[in-house]
Amino acid sequence: MKIPNSEITPYELYLNRRKFIKSTVLASIGASLPKGLNANHSDNSEIYNAYLDEGDELNKFSEITTYNNFYEFWSGKGDPAKYSKDFKPEPWTISVDGLVNKPKTFDFDDLLKKITIEDRVYRLRCVEAWSMVIPWQGFPLSALINIAEPLSSAKFVKFETIFRPTEMPAQSTGLLPWPYVEGLRMDEAMNPLTLLSTGLYGHKLPNQNGAPIRLVVPWKYGFKSIKSITKISFTESRPVSTWQSLAPHEYGFYSNVNPNVDHPRWSQSTERRIGEFKRRKTLMYNGYEKEVSYMYKDLDLKKFF
Ligand code: MTE
Repeated sequence: MKIPNSEITPYELYLNRRKFIKSTVLASIGASLPKGLNANHSDNSEIYNAYLDEGDELNKFSEITTYNNFYEFWSGKGDPAKYSKDFKPEPWTISVDGLVNKPKTFDFDDLLKKITIEDRVYRLRCVEAWSMVIPWQGFPLSALINIAEPLSSAKFVKFETIFRPTEMPAQSTGLLPWPYVEGLRMDEAMNPLTLLSTGLYGHKLPNQNGAPIRLVVPWKYGFKSIKSITKISFTESRPVSTWQSLAPHEYGFYSNVNPNVDHPRWSQSTERRIGEFKRRKTLMYNGYEKEVSYMYKDLDLKKFF
């Protein structure tokens, strides 16, 4: 894909010249915003709130950054915020390889210069039945895929988190098989909802949320949204994700949010929104049914969970 010069928005410039995009419509509304908007993320909440679906409210920055799953920094929800302080997300490279015309190792900052950053508000629902609504910044994964020019034999995309045990303490243990791996089918990866996120609430991604770049796949359980990505490979065969390799009966490849299929150890029909008391009914595909159900119309969702 050739990106016109006018579209190129370096991250720092972007931070001063915001564009807001409603997640479900994915249309730029081109709002012109007051200067200094990013000085304090909480000042932005009103503006982000304007682009939420009915019944949704943004989670606070403090909630999003202190209740996390990032097993490289241990498994307690408060652990990633505590133990990720020494992680260094700069400088950073992302290699793109496998079945592509243009394999390349990108310097993260150079990559951002080629790509237009967008704002989106997405829910993230985690498998243990909690969810948050997060104002992400990032770019569609499809933009990077188009730069790499996959071959027609590429059917899947595999993602890997960096392996850096000196900065990610749990990687020195057998807590999970490292590096953390995830995968998407090519059409899922190209879906316009699928985001490579580089920030939230107008800030660069905090370490505990997957700095400097992580996936956000809003219609799937949170574990699909792999953090601190350093390698993206195009493959013909289906990659085996970390959770699938550990517990294939509990975590399938698709991992679509589906309240009608129980996890073997708990119900998936309701969820607790962080910051709320009353549980909510979980929505099919996390509320993105209209945008994504066509991709699974021929799939038995009980078998391919
Ligand atoms: N990515 C890596 N590398 N390691 C992890 O342990 N946990 C996943 C996902 N990405 C995880 C990961 C899970 S289980 C969830 S629910 C989400 O990250 C949580 O993202 P958040 O902390 O930004 O809410």
